[in-house]
Amino acid sequence: MSDDTIDGARGQALWARADRVLPGGGVYLSRSADAAGRGTLPGFIVGAEGCRVTDADGRSYLDFLCANGPNLLGYCHPEIEDAARRQAALMTSASLFPEALVDVVEMLVDRFDGMDWGLVSKNGSEVVALGIRVARQARQRSLVIGFTKAYHGNDPELAFAPAPGVATERTRDVLRVPWNDASALLDLAQECGDRVAAIALNPVDQNAFEPTNSANPDFIAAIEQVRDAYGVLLLLDDVRHGFRMHPLGSHQVLGIKPDLLALGKALGNGYSISALLGTEDLRDAARANLYTSTYMFETPPMRAAIATVEVYDRDDALGTLTAAGTRLREGLLAAAEATGHAISYTGPVAAPMMRFVDDPGADRQRSFARHAADRGALFHPVLNWFLSAAHVDSDIDEAIAIAAEAFRLTSHGA
Ligand SMILES: Cc1ncc(COP(=O)(O)O)c(C=O)c1O
Repeated sequence: MSDDTIDGARGQALWARADRVLPGGGVYLSRSADAAGRGTLPGFIVGAEGCRVTDADGRSYLDFLCANGPNLLGYCHPEIEDAARRQAALMTSASLFPEALVDVVEMLVDRFDGMDWGLVSKNGSEVVALGIRVARQARQRSLVIGFTKAYHGNDPELAFAPAPGVATERTRDVLRVPWNDASALLDLAQECGDRVAAIALNPVDQNAFEPTNSANPDFIAAIEQVRDAYGVLLLLDDVRHGFRMHPLGSHQVLGIKPDLLALGKALGNGYSISALLGTEDLRDAARANLYTSTYMFETPPMRAAIATVEVYDRDDALGTLTAAGTRLREGLLAAAEATGHAISYTGPVAAPMMRFVDDPGADRQRSFARHAADRGALFHPVLNWFLSAAHVDSDIDEAIAIAAEAFRLTSHGA
């Protein structure tokens, strides 16, 4: 443990215990303290409310990590907590089909245009991987096209780098082409389009350490061309951006209609629920898949998801998120300019990515994040940030003032 860690005595003691019993390292990928740079952000969180979290030493922070997506409406939102608690008082896991399952899937199917059936699970990874299996079953083809570095969860087949412990033949059927490269996509399809079951697409190209790229119209047109010419299915992975780009699915922004839609993270506002939705002609393929798991019938997350979507619509949460994100973006761009820092600020305003220009090792990024954390705001140094509807103007202004000071204290590089 470095002397320079942000963790106080209790956080450091927790690290000592964690290092004895947790494997640590890459197994947590971007969630690991090592990805942020250990000691840059507090290692341990013990409480969260609204848009603030409390670390093990009792310090409170304005939080722009949002639990890596789930915090959409505010941590411990009273109506979501109440819905989950009332359900938990009736039952948690179910022996047979719970009523809440029909309620939540019906809500999702009725909400997302063109979707006719749905399965719910606990995490985004499971439903994206399941979507691929449904597509393969439907098309009786094994290849999948994805995009360079695009993250789709922990299924080793979809990992963007060789996955330790996974037989190489398990990963060879996922082919990657560069994002926004329409001709590479068309060339690949010409070679093997009739053997491709699905294209797995994120609504934007948002990877750790890099500015975010929107999809350009030629690229979207090429995707549509491949679908039409070869009968390739489109799986939209809206796990990260769902509810933060468009209330009815991020594909509305792209102007496309997916065959399969994967949702997670924000859907339960902190409760573990994800969903795979699909079109009618894929229903039989979904039925044929092996999907069952013990906790897929855990009911409080289902009630939490229903309440989340109701509150989200009623309160125009996306409007709030977008206004908060826009205010943050403008404030940070101005603060960076005033302190002489060249930054890029890209991506959806409710899930932005801030990068220092010419900072390949992310040293300035970490310095900024650490200075901000010292002053009470958590900005992840290498991942995109998230806004919640609990971030009100005064929170954003506080965050901008903290960021301005953090910029001032961050070196301008070599
Ligand atoms: C685009 C995308 N897909 C899938 C996943 C996997 O979701 P989960 O971590 O809930 O399994 C993530 C997680 O960050 C994601 O960003």
